[in-house]
Amino acid sequence: MAYGTQQYAKHSVTTLRKMKQEGEKIAMLTAYDSSFARVVDQGGVDVILVGDSLGMVIQGRATTIPVSVADIIYHTRAVTWATERALVLADLPFMSYTSPEMALRNCARLMQEGYAQMVKLEGGAPQVETVRQLTFHGVPVCAHLGLQPQSVHKLGGYRVQGRDAPVATQMQADALALQDAGADMLVLECVPVHLAEKITAQLEIPVIGIGAGQRCDGQVLVLQDMLGITPGAPRFSRDFMPDAGTIPGAVAAYVTAVKTGAFPAEEHSFF
Ligand code: KIV
Repeated sequence: MAYGTQQYAKHSVTTLRKMKQEGEKIAMLTAYDSSFARVVDQGGVDVILVGDSLGMVIQGRATTIPVSVADIIYHTRAVTWATERALVLADLPFMSYTSPEMALRNCARLMQEGYAQMVKLEGGAPQVETVRQLTFHGVPVCAHLGLQPQSVHKLGGYRVQGRDAPVATQMQADALALQDAGADMLVLECVPVHLAEKITAQLEIPVIGIGAGQRCDGQVLVLQDMLGITPGAPRFSRDFMPDAGTIPGAVAAYVTAVKTGAFPAEEHSFF
């Protein structure tokens, strides 16, 4: 496809919901600039996430915590500029949504200055009212449960979440409450396969896994991890470069592996 020609319809929340209903897996990747966004978009990825992981893979920080709203806007604008087909989702960074009012203000910036189509926030029950308010004001929301990297210091490290029954039960209740409040999508990070499968089955909105097994409605990875350039990438990721040989080839192989269910395999999952 020549860049600049609109060969595909732009993905929307409706497209993603329909993909879940029809059993088509959703392929999602991060991107933070125009060059990679174009490759990822043309490689057939359905959702591009401008994640606060940019704090680690672009800015070289140890966590996502130093990332600002201005950082996310800058990178989201670069990504939306080059994206024709995929839905562009932007992260609300640490401490940018501590009240519904603050979340509304910062979402307005992500959408009006960065041109994001959807925003993502971490958290369960405490975020339900914020999701309700964003929904009321027309902001599409992706919730994020399981491992929440913005809480890494509170959690004491990057660990699988939901192996014990009380946490698993709370996560299921939170997922339903976020959906009822109007969330359009849910990311589950580092969650045991059986729990991710239950949550995916109980929700009508698409559930996207990262380290959450193969039974989710789709998968997301950090681009630099799946291109094999992150030192010590997490074990739930896979390096697609050695077999594919080129970056566009690796992105296309990832999309195919997600759509056919070949990725993630057991070795990328937690039990
Ligand atoms: O910031 C990010 O890239 C994310 C993914 C790990 C889901 O939130």
